[in-house]
Amino acid sequence: MGQANGIGQAMEMGVAEKVSKVVAVESPLLAFAMGIAMCFGIESEDCCEWLGVFCNNLTGHVKELHLGLLSSRPDVHAPHAEWDVEWDVYIRSKLGGKSQQKHLSFLELSNNDFGGLAIPEFIGSMKSLIYLNLSWANFQGAIPHNLGNLSKLHYLDLGHNSLFEDKTLQWVSGLSSLQYLDLSHADLGKATDWLQITNKLPLLAELHLSGCYLYNDPSPISVNYTSLAVLDLSANKLSLVPTWIFSLRSLVSIDLTLNGVEGVIPNGFQNMSSLKFLDLSWNSFSSSSTLNWLSNLNQLQFLGLRSVGLQGNFSSAIGNLSSLTHLDLSGNLLEIIVPKYLESLCNLRELDLSNNGIVHEVSEIIESLSRCSLDRLESLNMGFNKLSGHLPDKLGQFKNLAYLSLSGNFISGPIPFSIGKLSSLKFLDVLNNRLNATLPQSLGQLGNLEHLDVCNNMLEGHISEMHFSNLTRLRFFRASNNMLTFKPNPSWIPPFHCESIELRNWHLGPQFPQWLQFQKNLSRLDISHAEISVVIPTWFWNISTQLEYLNLSHNQLIGEISYLPMKRTVDLSSNLFIGPLPLPISYLRFLFLSKNLFSGSLSNFLCNSSTKLEALTILDIESNLLSGEIPNCWENWQMLQVLNLGNYNLTGKIPRSLGSMRSIRSLNLRNDNLFGEVPSTLQHLVEVIILDLSENQLTGSISAWIGDKLLNLVVLNLRSNNFQAYIPDQICAINSLQVLDLVYNNISGVIPKCFSNLSAMATKTLYQYVGNFAWELDRINLIPLAALLVMKGREDAYSNTLGLVTIIDLSVNSLTGEIPKELGSLMGLRSLNLSGNFLTGKIPENIGSMEVLESLDLSMNRFHGEIPSSFSNLNFLNHFNLSYNNLTGQIPLST
Ligand SMILES: *[C@@H]1O[C@H](CO)[C@@H](O)[C@H](O)[C@H]1NC(C)=O
Ligand SMILES: *[C@@H]1O[C@H](CO)[C@@H](O)[C@H](O)[C@H]1NC(C)=O
Ligand SMILES: *[C@@H]1O[C@H](CO)[C@@H](O)[C@H](O)[C@H]1NC(C)=O
Ligand SMILES: *[C@@H]1O[C@H](CO)[C@@H](O)[C@H](O)[C@H]1NC(C)=O
Ligand SMILES: *[C@@H]1O[C@H](CO)[C@@H](O)[C@H](O)[C@H]1NC(C)=O
Ligand SMILES: *[C@@H]1O[C@H](CO)[C@@H](O)[C@H](O)[C@H]1NC(C)=O
Ligand SMILES: *[C@@H]1O[C@H](CO)[C@@H](O)[C@H](O)[C@H]1NC(C)=O
Ligand SMILES: *[C@@H]1O[C@H](CO)[C@@H](O)[C@H](O)[C@H]1NC(C)=O
Ligand SMILES: *[C@@H]1O[C@H](CO)[C@@H](O)[C@H](O)[C@H]1NC(C)=O
Repeated sequence: MGQANGIGQAMEMGVAEKVSKVVAVESPLLAFAMGIAMCFGIESEDCCEWLGVFCNNLTGHVKELHLGLLSSRPDVHAPHAEWDVEWDVYIRSKLGGKSQQKHLSFLELSNNDFGGLAIPEFIGSMKSLIYLNLSWANFQGAIPHNLGNLSKLHYLDLGHNSLFEDKTLQWVSGLSSLQYLDLSHADLGKATDWLQITNKLPLLAELHLSGCYLYNDPSPISVNYTSLAVLDLSANKLSLVPTWIFSLRSLVSIDLTLNGVEGVIPNGFQNMSSLKFLDLSWNSFSSSSTLNWLSNLNQLQFLGLRSVGLQGNFSSAIGNLSSLTHLDLSGNLLEIIVPKYLESLCNLRELDLSNNGIVHEVSEIIESLSRCSLDRLESLNMGFNKLSGHLPDKLGQFKNLAYLSLSGNFISGPIPFSIGKLSSLKFLDVLNNRLNATLPQSLGQLGNLEHLDVCNNMLEGHISEMHFSNLTRLRFFRASNNMLTFKPNPSWIPPFHCESIELRNWHLGPQFPQWLQFQKNLSRLDISHAEISVVIPTWFWNISTQLEYLNLSHNQLIGEISYLPMKRTVDLSSNLFIGPLPLPISYLRFLFLSKNLFSGSLSNFLCNSSTKLEALTILDIESNLLSGEIPNCWENWQMLQVLNLGNYNLTGKIPRSLGSMRSIRSLNLRNDNLFGEVPSTLQHLVEVIILDLSENQLTGSISAWIGDKLLNLVVLNLRSNNFQAYIPDQICAINSLQVLDLVYNNISGVIPKCFSNLSAMATKTLYQYVGNFAWELDRINLIPLAALLVMKGREDAYSNTLGLVTIIDLSVNSLTGEIPKELGSLMGLRSLNLSGNFLTGKIPENIGSMEVLESLDLSMNRFHGEIPSSFSNLNFLNHFNLSYNNLTGQIPLST
């Protein structure tokens, strides 16, 4: 067999051209189909020379067609639906009765795009086929039953199309020579006889039925597949391990991943002594039910059960499978695995226990594995469990270990020196643990290491050049959020060329790390919070052109920057840069320049048409020394989602064109010197979640359109302005509102009764949307939501915790009238401040039913009467002020 080729290449060799001489053909696929017909000698063309076509060199008959597409070509696309019929009819008319096709034994059309056509019927008449592969080819519809006529087939692969079978798999029983059957992703939900039928295929060795909507077998039959070695029932709807599996002693591989199987791992596995691959991942297997009590011990971090024999526990079944080479139990609910049973798995090469809740000491498991699989184990993944304790020295003896992941556990202590002996190690991932001490120098011996991630631990001490001495293959070096110090000799040339270097929170400065200039493949660099306090060296701008992500924030970098050559994300915030804002020279998505000393006018940066800012999603330039007015050139910023322009002495009015940024989700103009009314164009910002215009000198009334149009608002902050008139009832229509801050204005009138409609504050569950947004931003490692909120008298920056905050603060205004008792229905409110107004009357009794209230300030009003006794229900209250009123009665004693 030669190398596989695609229809695309075959056509390049002229099939379509030759065909179009015979008949006018518009569709490349039809042309191809005709080409096949011609190949069978019907049009007496010789195509044995074509790529992917193999002929019998004695008879000239086409024997094999290898037309799986390797690289898709845009011009080979689906024909119109009507070609479907014509194709089939044409081919059949050409083939009908003719004899040439009987020589074709191999037909492979996988990885093409047949645009949702049905599998053509004529394939069922190619009786000499031994191998038929139509997988990954975008066929749709019912599986043609005449495929069952292909009694010589050894291999039938129809997997990964969108096929279905609406009655029975009876036709399969005609395939008496079948050794390999793959119907993955075909909907077999109605073909409930699949088991009986496939069981009767005497030579069947591999059965792949992944994602076929199979349910637990309603009528268990005795199954005896005589030859079956590989069984793939992954991604179905099974809630039990089918018991017939256990009688199939010839099985070598079982894949049950992604079903909904519950309960303990059944004992039935214990006699499957030929099993080599067992994948039970992403189900709901749990530890023995006798251990259920353990699941209540959420804080448990150590449990010694090493020598306890727990019958009926999963491990006793697994422990007998001494032939296993691959065991995957990830993504289940296992907490106890009884490491002892791992001791008999002497052939194990890959073990994946990740994403469970396993509570053992890590040394216990490694010790048990070392008994028998020391020489064989190549891959060990125990990430995302509750493992504790220290890494044992034994670790260094797994001499074939290439992949080791222990991330997301509670492992403490040092990384053992013996790690340097793992000469095969390519991938080491211990992120998010509690490792302390320093990195061992022996790490530098790992000549095969490509990926090193020790982020988010408590490592400390000095790193030297020796730590990297032999790391020639290192490509991903992630070690942020440790307290390590690295100040190599300025002439040091690292042995590696990394794509990613992340050393946030290291002690690297005051000099700029000179060794970075040799990193020619770098696309991601984070050396933020690293105490660097010099001018960025000129060589750095050369390596910057290929950077997709650069974070130099929170250093003391100085000097001017004229342009930004990086590609996607640049964070230079919290440094001491001066001069005009630097202009990007390629299309950036995320740009952070806040908290520097940049000066000059904004319009040069924002309105200069030659700058490539149109793709920007986040622009954070607050807290610099820019001056003048906010320019009126926002029409082109259709992609912008976050704009931070706060903390300046910017003067003038809010420009009308700000209202054209239709994607904006967070707009922050806080603490500038803006005056005049809020332009009505801002009502077009219908996506906005956070609107912060606080600390300016804005005037006029609070417009009703805020409540009519800005229905996604979560934070509305108008604090410290000169807004007048009253609170419009329309505000009550903003279901998502969590923070309403109108402090220090001149607002008069009454508190609207309709506040009770503010549903995000009326429920105790979190409002999800802002959580997702914050999470999106957090994922790209950015914390730009400077939604500065005032709670409990303190200023805090809320970003991804914003989902937890609910505040109404109307203090220091001129509000009159009584507190509407409807306010008491805001059961999710955590902070209520009405102080410094002219409110009168009694405090409604039901304020005491706002159970999650943490802060309540009604001081400096004209309330009278009794302090409601219900206040004693306010169990979370930690800030409480009723002073300067005319109230009587007892201060509640609850907290
Ligand atoms: C037929 O092809 C095979 C493999 O390409 C080759 O080994 C054999 O010699 C050829 N026979 C003739 C008669 O050309
Ligand atoms: C069918 O083709 C696909 C894609 O090229 C391949 O992954 C698969 O192994 C083939 N099936 C068989 C039975 O060879
Ligand atoms: C092929 O299969 C179809 C449908 O299963 C059947 O009706 C037909 O008789 C078969 N043809 C031959 C030649 O076996
Ligand atoms: C396999 O089971 C079927 C029924 O399930 C039965 O008819 C057949 O005789 C069995 N074959 C063997 C070899 O046990
Ligand atoms: C395993 O095999 C033993 C001995 O053949 C037998 O007694 C036992 O019942 C079998 N266990 C299962 C679960 O099939
Ligand atoms: C399974 O292992 C247990 C001990 O773990 C042993 O007593 C039993 O004989 C083993 N069964 C088989 C069939 O190997
Ligand atoms: C590491 O942490 C452990 C437990 O928290 C502590 O006992 C030990 O002293 C620490 N070691 C170092 C070097 O800080
Ligand atoms: C460095 O790694 C190579 C394999 O890449 C190995 O042959 C050599 O012994 C190692 N040297 C040291 C000093 O560890
Ligand atoms: C305070 O309330 C009492 C009765 O509750 C009333 O007699 C008194 O005049 C009030 N004082 C002021 C200053 O309003």
